[in-house]
Amino acid sequence: MSDAIRVQPVAGAIGAEVSGVDLSKDLDDATVAALRRAWLEHLVLFFRDQDLSPARFLAFARRFGEPIEYPFVKGLDEFPEIIPVLKLENEKINFGGIWHSDTTYLDVPPMASMLVAREVPPAGGDTEFANMYLAYETLSSGMKRLLDGLVAVNSSAAADVSRTREDRLKDSARADAKKDYAASHPVVRVHPETGRRALYVNVAHTVRFEGMTGEESAPILKYLYAHQTRPEFTCRFRWRPGSLAMWDNRCAQHNAINDYQGHRRLLHRITLAGDKPTGP
Ligand code: SIN
Repeated sequence: MSDAIRVQPVAGAIGAEVSGVDLSKDLDDATVAALRRAWLEHLVLFFRDQDLSPARFLAFARRFGEPIEYPFVKGLDEFPEIIPVLKLENEKINFGGIWHSDTTYLDVPPMASMLVAREVPPAGGDTEFANMYLAYETLSSGMKRLLDGLVAVNSSAAADVSRTREDRLKDSARADAKKDYAASHPVVRVHPETGRRALYVNVAHTVRFEGMTGEESAPILKYLYAHQTRPEFTCRFRWRPGSLAMWDNRCAQHNAINDYQGHRRLLHRITLAGDKPTGP
């Protein structure tokens, strides 16, 4: 790996900014391995001032995993694995504007996601990230024991998250998108690379615990949603054109802040294939 690469944490809990690497170039194996180690340690890596065409963005993503298509929104014509994450000046609701891990309503949810910023508002439009290892580790032993044995049902049709997709489905919906997807996953996920336990429910997609009604599940889920996004588990990233973020959906959540009404924001997103979540 080049000696010039530096990894600087941006907060106490999650996130590091990496400098000294040009992602538009072919990266050698040592650099990719070092970036992966840093990514597993910090959960989300940020890069600045990257001049990445869609083709180079895809080439970079392929060094970390297998790009897959998003079930709801069409990708770019030449690059179906890249979706535009767009909010127009006249739109009020933003895509991804709720805490979540990506598409946990799929049986095999994505390992990672990457965003590269193309157009950003003059102020606002930041993205927050939260550390789900810390969310789990800071629970009481009694709560951990309870959650370790539970499975949660995740749905694509929950009302709050469905609303965040509405504008894009008007102009960019995939013809083959099913209306609803649902999948059950362990509430506590064992990370397949680090072996650490992470809390794996999220307010966007989790609807109830298996074997319980929605009403019975709600009080515990409400507690977990508030707990898992406590400020001390998070970091917040300010985008500039050419900024890139790559995060680990297995142990981190993210939330796009909707505070730039009247301005346009465009990022390109790639998600990477994952594995079937397993519990403790
Ligand atoms: C997403 O949830 O992938 C979008 C995040 C963002 O726009 O910051």
